[in-house]
Amino acid sequence: MANGGQPVTFLRYPGGKRRMLSFLSEHIPPRDKIRGCYVEPFVGGGAVFLWLQPKRALLSDINCELIDLYKCIRNNPQGIWEAFERIPEGKEAYNQMRKLRHRDLDPVMGAARLLYLNRTCFKGMWRHNGKGQFNVGYGGAARRWVITRQHLDTVAKLLQRVSIEYGDFEPMIDKCKSGDFIFVDPPYRPGMKEQSNAHYVGQQFTFADQQRLALALLRASERGVSWTMTISSHPDILRLYPNYRIIPMPRGTGRTPGVLTSESGEVIILNIK
Ligand SMILES: C[S@@+](CC[C@H](N)C(=O)[O-])C[C@H]1O[C@@H](n2cnc3c(N)ncnc32)[C@H](O)[C@@H]1O
Repeated sequence: MANGGQPVTFLRYPGGKRRMLSFLSEHIPPRDKIRGCYVEPFVGGGAVFLWLQPKRALLSDINCELIDLYKCIRNNPQGIWEAFERIPEGKEAYNQMRKLRHRDLDPVMGAARLLYLNRTCFKGMWRHNGKGQFNVGYGGAARRWVITRQHLDTVAKLLQRVSIEYGDFEPMIDKCKSGDFIFVDPPYRPGMKEQSNAHYVGQQFTFADQQRLALALLRASERGVSWTMTISSHPDILRLYPNYRIIPMPRGTGRTPGVLTSESGEVIILNIK
């Protein structure tokens, strides 16, 4: 499955990299060439991890419910699938599920609920209101059964020897050592075209965060860590990376997976040759 075949993505994720895999694969080392750990500090739907299937990995994200979901799939994919199957279909059932609070549910039901909301909400968005309640509208059931029990079993197997952590990117990058490889896919720059990153959980990813990220990646480079990042081609961002290779990224059409057009406004920045 790695480096070819159907990727085993199980989440719909804004900014997910599934459609970019054929292009990205040219700029990510094959798993046998990664001497240390594969690290993804903005894991989201984990498209690159699930495609590459590295031998050792650390996955993290600031979205703690998402991290709970990964941990629960690793431990009990069967239990989640059975609970997911039992959740009724339709807008009313969706609204009932949406009202529940993650922290009030046991881990398996919490994970099944998140998977259900993700598979049936509008465009796979992951947004909360000021009170921390999931507030994306209903999108329909068409994508609910695109995933199967086998998907969850496969993902669980891939997660067996993986560290899964909740938290900000900076400490995750700071603990990387020589020989590790980081795939970096942060929320793109707010401002200009994207005023906010409201489709992600938590606070906005500000320009100060972008600066923090650039410094963390500079420190990582100095320690001999390799990394590849996807990011917006906004000039303010590019100025943060004066000494690295920058490659314009083609755009997935959104309609035909894998078919690429030009002019995405996104780039790959990398410190590997
Ligand atoms: C572009 S998405 C990653 C998509 C992923 N590569 C995929 O293919 O599905 C960016 C992720 O960064 C996370 N994030 C936002 N701020 C963060 C922070 N300060 N530290 C770590 N993760 C953060 C969001 O929760 C979101 O999951």
